[in-house]
Amino acid sequence: MFTPAHYLLPLLLVIGTGGAMPSPWAPPPGCYVAEEAGEPTFRCSQAGLSTVPIGIPNDTRKLYLDANRLASVPAGAFQHLAFLEELDLSQNILAHLSGAAFQGLEETLRLLDLSANQLASLPVEAFSRLQIQVNLSANPWRCDCALQEVLRQVRLAPGTATGIVCGPGARPDLVGQEFLPLAGEEELCGPGRAGAPRSTDVALLVVMGGWMVLVGAYLAHYVWQNRDETRRPIKRPPALPVRSEDSSTLSTVL
Ligand SMILES: *[C@@H]1O[C@H](CO)[C@@H](O)[C@H](O)[C@H]1NC(C)=O
Ligand SMILES: *[C@@H]1O[C@H](CO)[C@@H](O)[C@H](O)[C@H]1NC(C)=O
Repeated sequence: MFTPAHYLLPLLLVIGTGGAMPSPWAPPPGCYVAEEAGEPTFRCSQAGLSTVPIGIPNDTRKLYLDANRLASVPAGAFQHLAFLEELDLSQNILAHLSGAAFQGLEETLRLLDLSANQLASLPVEAFSRLQIQVNLSANPWRCDCALQEVLRQVRLAPGTATGIVCGPGARPDLVGQEFLPLAGEEELCGPGRAGAPRSTDVALLVVMGGWMVLVGAYLAHYVWQNRDETRRPIKRPPALPVRSEDSSTLSTVL
């Protein structure tokens, strides 16, 4: 029934289109597909990778890319993995994550390991709408507002809280300190973002202004009294308007 041409034609097509057609895909060296506890798993640990490999099977639920040389995770790097639940990126040299690095994983991702990398900061957007547990241990954290906001969005993997320590890029008084106790007692996101710090500033100005007016008024009153004493014969002028004039000149002097 089938002549050799029936077999050759698809093969030639695959070669001719450079693999764009569904062709037998081989994992990169050091990577393999497995089934672990019934879950489709893709393991690429210690595979010498410097980029996220292409062609990861789209039914993968657990993905291990640990102990490689990944320096960054580009936007949408895993968005074709519609079932991905666990992602291990630990022990790489990640210094930068795209704000859209985990885009498309909002519904499925549960566990993310970013430990033992070179991360000093994280884009808050990368974690919006994710319901995950993360391991952020062993990174040189700058211990800034962004990290504080990330920690409001994610949960830490059990037992990893003490592993978040401020690195050399942090404020000098924070270097070497555990981040969580600090973040609990200090608002690192600065004034102006939340509105509350701004209103305390205004309140402080109002209070200080009030004190200035009071002191000015008191001084004016004091000066008036002395003047009254030195010029007793002269009839005392109407009190209020003059007083307020004097208090304003005095407070500008002050
Ligand atoms: C996964 O990839 C296969 C081919 O490799 C394709 O037929 C299937 O539609 C893809 N599934 C999803 C959910 O993208
Ligand atoms: C978190 O990361 C650290 C450092 O890589 C590791 O020792 C620890 O086992 C991890 N913990 C969990 C719960 O993944």
